[in-house]
Amino acid sequence: MMRTHRCGELNESHIGQEVTLCGWVHRRRDHGGVIFIDLRDREGLVQVVVDPSNPEAFSRAETVRSEYVIQVRGKVRRRPEGTENPNLPTGGIEVLASDLVVLNRAETPPFPLESEIPVSEEVRLRYRYLDLRRPPMQEKLRTRHRVMQVLRRFLDQHGFLEIETPFLTKATPEGARDYLVPSRTHPHAFYALPQSPQLYKQLLMIAGFDRYYQIVRCFRDEDLRADRQPEFTQLDVETSFMDEHDIMALMEEMIRDLFKQVLDVDLPNPFPRLTYREAMRRFGSDKPDLRIPLELVDVGDLMREVDFKVFAGPARDPQGRVAALRLPGGAALSRKEIDDLTRFVAQFGAKGLAYVKVNDPDKGREGLQSPILKFLPDPVVAEILQRTKAEGGDIIFFGADKARVVNDALGALRVRLGQDRGLVESGWRPLWIVEFPMFEWDEESGRWVALHHPFTAPACTVEELKKDPGSALSRAYDMVLNGVEIGGGSIRIHTPEMQQAVFELLGIGAEEAREKFGFLLDALKYGCPPHGGIAFGLDRLVMLMTGSKTIRDVMAFPKTQTAACPMVDAPARIHEDQLRELYLQLRELSQRERKKVAAQ
Ligand code: AMO
Ligand code: AMP
Repeated sequence: MMRTHRCGELNESHIGQEVTLCGWVHRRRDHGGVIFIDLRDREGLVQVVVDPSNPEAFSRAETVRSEYVIQVRGKVRRRPEGTENPNLPTGGIEVLASDLVVLNRAETPPFPLESEIPVSEEVRLRYRYLDLRRPPMQEKLRTRHRVMQVLRRFLDQHGFLEIETPFLTKATPEGARDYLVPSRTHPHAFYALPQSPQLYKQLLMIAGFDRYYQIVRCFRDEDLRADRQPEFTQLDVETSFMDEHDIMALMEEMIRDLFKQVLDVDLPNPFPRLTYREAMRRFGSDKPDLRIPLELVDVGDLMREVDFKVFAGPARDPQGRVAALRLPGGAALSRKEIDDLTRFVAQFGAKGLAYVKVNDPDKGREGLQSPILKFLPDPVVAEILQRTKAEGGDIIFFGADKARVVNDALGALRVRLGQDRGLVESGWRPLWIVEFPMFEWDEESGRWVALHHPFTAPACTVEELKKDPGSALSRAYDMVLNGVEIGGGSIRIHTPEMQQAVFELLGIGAEEAREKFGFLLDALKYGCPPHGGIAFGLDRLVMLMTGSKTIRDVMAFPKTQTAACPMVDAPARIHEDQLRELYLQLRELSQRERKKVAAQ
């Protein structure tokens, strides 16, 4: 037998036992003629002692270096008094080696694995197999495994069938670009990798499976961020004969069960629900972090007549918004700090960041300090102070622009101030966002775009939808946790008439609809049950549950910000033969394209 126990499993109950361990040398220390080796495997570390009374083992121990793979036979004993390590689960014991075999040597790793020294992510990803040896990374992937098991068990117990769907398929619109795969057997034709299994899971409902789930990879060619990867994992769910309330109730029960089992955390029951409208109004975001006790307050109605165009313009514009955000204690912010925040909101399109410092609210104007005070009449000032509940020492920031810009800018400012000033409360604040608009008007292309996806059912009839698409609400719902959208779903359209009407509103003509989604339109004619579902971002969920900053830390082999893998060196050029076989020819990049690529 190569080993009897794992290193990290040993404890006082093993004292006196002969054990054989295999693992990596985490650290070797030579102390007064005795060699100590911290031996590591996936369960943790244990201290191995090799003393010179065992000359053969001792001389081998002298040759080992960090990350050598060794096998140790020995006896577990209590550590001498005063040498225990309370920080280590195995800290009360050690293994006195009787034999030591070097199973494999290791070159000096490109970065030390035993310390928390920051290492560039490029290097970590290039040597991911070493990075993953580090105990915190092992712990994260172990939690990920647990999460998947607990979710699977819950869904199995609730009658969901796990069914796989194809990767080589046709474009599935979720708002990103597709990854394409050329076909050899169909010259000049391409498969698309799925952005989600959306249409297949709907077809499974039409097929009568009733409750489906899948832990599935999705592929999206989009701009990457901390919580976005080109391939990521969804827990994808679909059900028939359940309305949105049934689905939300079951799915939050699942998430409560998950947090209880994996983290021993009790999430609220039920999760609070917020309409999209209210979320935008109070937090400027449809994924508000409720741990931050700051809120936006509308003041547009007060600004219509003021002698300050920056405010009066948006106040009179039906698409505009003027909102205030009070930061308690913010009157002490310096000029430079305010300038920094102004630059910060500029990223979101804000043209400025007006503010009023409230030194003493009881002194009226005298107690205030602001570059825009001169434009605001007394009653307006008084009403602002009252609505924002301003107190002495606060600052009130203002955003005035198109509602979207104000929401983006003040919504982001709210989060940034919450984080910078340590206002983020501890704990877990899940919620549902409901009553999303069906469509958003896209200025650039001059047409409606689906807020969720084009298969989401509206909360109205075909006639009502056609009459006023802009105010139609959908039957969609998002689950948000601590400011992260962890899941989204909806009740789906289940009649061809409604599906056609939505395609038309989205500017997808009959011919295009047939070409792209003919199979769906056909399937809807053959007895499609009312159905709906949801997909959770598994990586985001595990990121939150492990306290990680990015989803890259909870994926074994993630990609860099430019969607590359420095370890296997993907994507890579392919050989001319392969191109020929696929009937493909590469085009030279233009000067402009070259520059664009270089800038990425
Ligand atoms: P949606 O596009 O909202 O819905 O995706 C569902 C969830 O997947 C996660 N997610 C991502 N995670 C990491 N990297 C990405 N690039 C990424 N994109 C999305 C998010 C998101 O909430 N078919 C629908 C679901 C449905 O209607 O049932 C869909 O894919 O956590
Ligand atoms: P100005 O009249 O441009 O000097 O601006 C006066 C104050 O209003 C400054 O503090 C600006 O930062 C702020 N400001 C300008 N435009 C906006 C805007 N769209 N929203 C909020 N504040 C603004």
